[in-house]
Formats: sequence, structure tokens, C-alpha cells
Amino acid sequence: MALLDVTHLSIHFGGVKAVQDVSFSIDAGIVYSVIGPNGAGKTTLFNLITGVYKPTHGEIRLDGESIGGRSPDELARRGVARTFQNLQICMNMSAIENVMVGAHLRLDRNLIKAALRFPGLRRRDAALRDEALELMRFVGLDKFADARADAMPYGALKRLEIARALAMKPRVIFLDEPAAGLNPKETIEVDHLVRKVADSGITVVLVEHDMKMVMNLSDRILVLDYGKKLAEGTGAEVRRNPDVIAAYLGAHA
Ligand SMILES: Nc1ncnc2c1ncn2[C@@H]1O[C@H](COP(=O)(O)OP(=O)(O)O)[C@@H](O)[C@H]1O
Ligand SMILES: [Mg+2]
Repeated sequence: MALLDVTHLSIHFGGVKAVQDVSFSIDAGIVYSVIGPNGAGKTTLFNLITGVYKPTHGEIRLDGESIGGRSPDELARRGVARTFQNLQICMNMSAIENVMVGAHLRLDRNLIKAALRFPGLRRRDAALRDEALELMRFVGLDKFADARADAMPYGALKRLEIARALAMKPRVIFLDEPAAGLNPKETIEVDHLVRKVADSGITVVLVEHDMKMVMNLSDRILVLDYGKKLAEGTGAEVRRNPDVIAAYLGAHA
């Protein structure tokens, strides 16, 4: 059975059909990418699967169980973690505190509550701090552990958000443009990090515009265009698909 099964998924915002009748499934352990031009519906698809939006139509199954319309924190407890296209880091907290928020989220609280409750829990949290430090090492940010988030470079914050998602001990992690705004060196670091995350056994679902990174990492690729599924397959299959070339890759290659 696939880890994630999406069938006939649609969401409409008034007249805007942001996602239209999209079906695909994702096997556990793979890197699955979603590509398509700006406005194609990639972030909306992530928002649907991670519980931010409720589908207008269609079904989302995790391990065969319907999860469409469940809340983000309930999905987090079921092992669905994500990062955001627009960073969502608490800038007035230290780097490691941000990661510990992810661990608290795993322990049953939503993101905002976890952040608010954090100071009161500080003393009890030595174990979580060690765990968070380990994750900071994993993403290559240990030297920033006690830095305030607002003093960190943007590229480091992108990786910090991945560390926070990993602190939820997810089975599947959704990364929405993890390399957006990064320089070539930082992009390669994120590429390596995503590979490391996948090698640790976590299923990765990736939205990314850097085609080199997508082709390098992905086992399978879903191509969206105007909210619809245009193609799905391996990198090689997608790259030679005439519809994809016309709609998307042609314009970038
Ligand atoms: N909350 C919303 N309300 C209205 N329209 C939305 C909302 N979220 C997304 N959209 C629209 O859905 C379409 C897809 O957007 P998005 O998923 O952000 O695209 P992508 O991530 O592929 O660039 C766009 O036309 C966008 O304006
Ligand atoms: Mg987007």
C-alpha cells in the first residue's frame, strides 16, 4: 500500500480552481517532487495534504486512512511535517528553541501554543534540547545553536525550518521550495541535506524550482499546470513528455 494516496483532489477558491481533480500516490521511502509554473497549485496541494485547507472534492489517504480535512496538529502527530515557502520561524527565539518548538508540537500542541508555552517548560527540557542539538548538527547548524534566529543568514534559517520539521519525528516531510532564494553553494547544501533526510528513512515530498536539484533527488515527479495534473513519472519520463516541455520545462531549459 502507498504511504499517501490522493484521489480526485480539488479545491476551489471562489472561481479559482487552484487544484483540480488531481490523483497520485507516494510510496514510503521515496523522494517525490511536485513541479509546475508559479500559480500551478503546488503550495495549495501541500496545504491540502497538511491540513491547512479542506478539500472541495476528493480524498487524501495516509496508510489507507482518510485524512482529508484533519487539522495540521493532528496530522503532525500522525507523522506529517512540513516547511513553508515563506519562512515561518520565530525570529525572537534562539535557533535551538525554534527546533524545540517542533518537538513540543510532536507532544501534542499546535505551533503557536508550543511557542507560547515554551519559556515555562525550559527547565524540564534538557532531553529535548539534546535532541534538538543533534538535529542542528544533522542540518549543519550546530554553531548557531544559541544564536537568535533574527541574527542568522537566510540560508541557515531555511535549514533551521527543516530541523524543526524533523523534530516532529515525521514519516513524511513536505518541503516547499527549500532552496528558494539561496545561492548556488547553499542550494547544493540543501540538496545534500534532502538526500540525507531521505536516507534516514523519511519520505520526502519536494516543491522546488531548481530543476537540477529536482532531477538529482527525485524518484518520481508530479507536474502541475493550472491546478491540473499534467504528467507524472520518473525524471526521465517527465523530461521527455511533450506536454511538460511545452508547458514548463521548455521555458526553463
Ligand atoms: N487562500 C487562497 N485564496 C484564493 N486563492 C488562492 C488561495 N491559495 C491559493 N490561491 C490561488 O491558487 C492558485 C495556486 O496557487 P499556489 O498553490 O500558491 O501556486 P504555486 O505554489 O504552484 O505557485 C493561484 O492562482 C493562487 O492565487
Ligand atoms: Mg508555492
